[in-house]
Amino acid sequence: MCGIIGYLGDQEATPILMESLKRLEYRGYDSAGVAVLEMPAAGKANHTSITKSEAKVDMLIEKLKANMPTGKLGIGHTRWATHGKPTYVNAHPHTDCHNRIFVVHNGIIENFAELKAELQAAGHEFTSDTDTEVVPHLIEANYKGDFLSAVRAALKRIRGAYALAMFSTDDPELLIGARLNAPLVVGLGDHEYYIASDITAIIPYTKRVLVLGEGEVVAVTPLGAQVSTLDGVSVQPKLIHVDWDLSQAQKGGYRHFMLKEIHESPEAVANAMRGRLTDDGIVTFREFDVPDEEMRRYREVLLLGMGTSLHAAMVGEYIIEDWAGIPAKAMDASEFRYRRPTFSEDGSLAVVLTQSGETADTLVGLHQAKQRGARTVAVTNVVASSAARDADGAIYLHSGPEIGVASTKTLLAHLISLYLLGLRMATVHGRVSLERRHELVESLRALPDHVEGIVARENEIAKIAKKYSRYRNFMYTGRGLGYAIALEGAIKLKEISYIHAEGVTGGELKHGPIAMLDENFPVIAVCTSSATKDKMVSNVHEIVARSAPVLALVTEGDHSLDGVATDVFVMPAVEEAAGAILNTVMLQLFAYHVAVELGQDVDQPRNLAKSVTVE
Ligand code: AGP
Ligand code: GLU
Repeated sequence: MCGIIGYLGDQEATPILMESLKRLEYRGYDSAGVAVLEMPAAGKANHTSITKSEAKVDMLIEKLKANMPTGKLGIGHTRWATHGKPTYVNAHPHTDCHNRIFVVHNGIIENFAELKAELQAAGHEFTSDTDTEVVPHLIEANYKGDFLSAVRAALKRIRGAYALAMFSTDDPELLIGARLNAPLVVGLGDHEYYIASDITAIIPYTKRVLVLGEGEVVAVTPLGAQVSTLDGVSVQPKLIHVDWDLSQAQKGGYRHFMLKEIHESPEAVANAMRGRLTDDGIVTFREFDVPDEEMRRYREVLLLGMGTSLHAAMVGEYIIEDWAGIPAKAMDASEFRYRRPTFSEDGSLAVVLTQSGETADTLVGLHQAKQRGARTVAVTNVVASSAARDADGAIYLHSGPEIGVASTKTLLAHLISLYLLGLRMATVHGRVSLERRHELVESLRALPDHVEGIVARENEIAKIAKKYSRYRNFMYTGRGLGYAIALEGAIKLKEISYIHAEGVTGGELKHGPIAMLDENFPVIAVCTSSATKDKMVSNVHEIVARSAPVLALVTEGDHSLDGVATDVFVMPAVEEAAGAILNTVMLQLFAYHVAVELGQDVDQPRNLAKSVTVE
């Protein structure tokens, strides 16, 4: 969702806001804007300059270059609209009736309609359709000469989710941030401070970051950053040192972040395993350091996620059930949160999969699981993200920043983490022999090279993608792990190329979906080695009999689909779990090249945002 940034320091604010917004753009790109408190000429009153664009950050940057506001305090915003169309007037920052209070917001003010009516009745004039605009007016209504107190009083009235950065023209040395159910970090530089939605925005400037807790407010002045609650009680915030580096957040010569991130897959796979797996298959997670006796007490596992992370959860479901022999269930977190689940009293583990650690539905799912007595672990890429902080333990992906809206390398790291967790559970439950553990270790350790091998076949995949890019509908099908991967193949194609695609199990095909197939409706069939491979081969025959073109992923040495499928893409012979990772990479590259062939904006697909921090 929206990206917000605030700056107070010794340097000119505008160039820093522009650069940070560019880095935050993956969070939303409907419109953009900045407000900078300009240095007044001697004897003149303070003045704030607002620049907005009704389109992407680049358009805002053009405007700013033509007319650059000067000042050391400013805030900026890149929007993913929830309330009000992506127009100029709805672009943030929003302000009060007298243009003295400036606010950028990420989240949704759920009670905005009633607050707006109340403020309008009191004479406040609104100019936008956004929920956000109630915030500056509410602060104005509570303002009695102390900006921070007015902010606290206003925020106490607000329900919903917010990460805010704000300042008042009357306080040229005060930048305020606040959060509730939406992420916000505070970067500490030398005589300068940053408030941002996430770390990526401020990587070039500082590695020292304060993480704000729920319902906390930060008041930044040239003397430092003071964190407190809405009641004014001081809080000692957590300081973290970020180990991401700048090059990881840049395209580095690649045409798109998505392509760069696919090329980083071998490393992402290796990083997710590093230091966690011994030669004998003994797994340890530093931030989820549970003794064997406790691990053994978890008699069932719930896996929660959304989108691609839900597909990871589905893979985890199969693996944990198969390897550890205990019940496992993957669930869409947005559904789970409204159900009344029961957990067995013996002990349950809820594994919460979220790359960003900030997905609103997934976080509520986590809280719900916790409340109902499950032990929780967040599997996330972002250190000190909300999921990592709220769960009992964390398994970090160590993938480096992922900027492309379509998740790629972090999914692979999610899968590796689940394989390691599955192996750990299988070991404590005595379900896996030493010999089998050796096999698995060998296969996991060989994976980075195998992934490299698939990435190296990019040209071959691009050729296939070109051939298939003329179709408007796609069916992806598989069974077992292959089904989760089919769903993932379909979501990748949908989100970046806007082509209709769906994923169904091989078994489900003839219960309905097969009716749609004809010579213009191709099927991508995951037919690599697995217990159900032969069933998939039969499914492909059934599809071919309906004249649909088939692109089949098969394992080397298996010739059962030669001359049957329209195209066959041959995968190396590896363990089924390792194969799921290779198939994923192939389908990511396929979707990428179809989208490029169609000229789509791969890194910033329409209507989407990288981090869905609202429900
Ligand atoms: C991935 O390609 C998506 N754009 C999206 O489905 C994503 O996986 C989902 O929003 C979950 O994000 P998270 O892992 O950060 O929670
Ligand atoms: N609700 C605000 C708007 O529509 C912020 C949206 C968001 O954070 O996604 O402008």
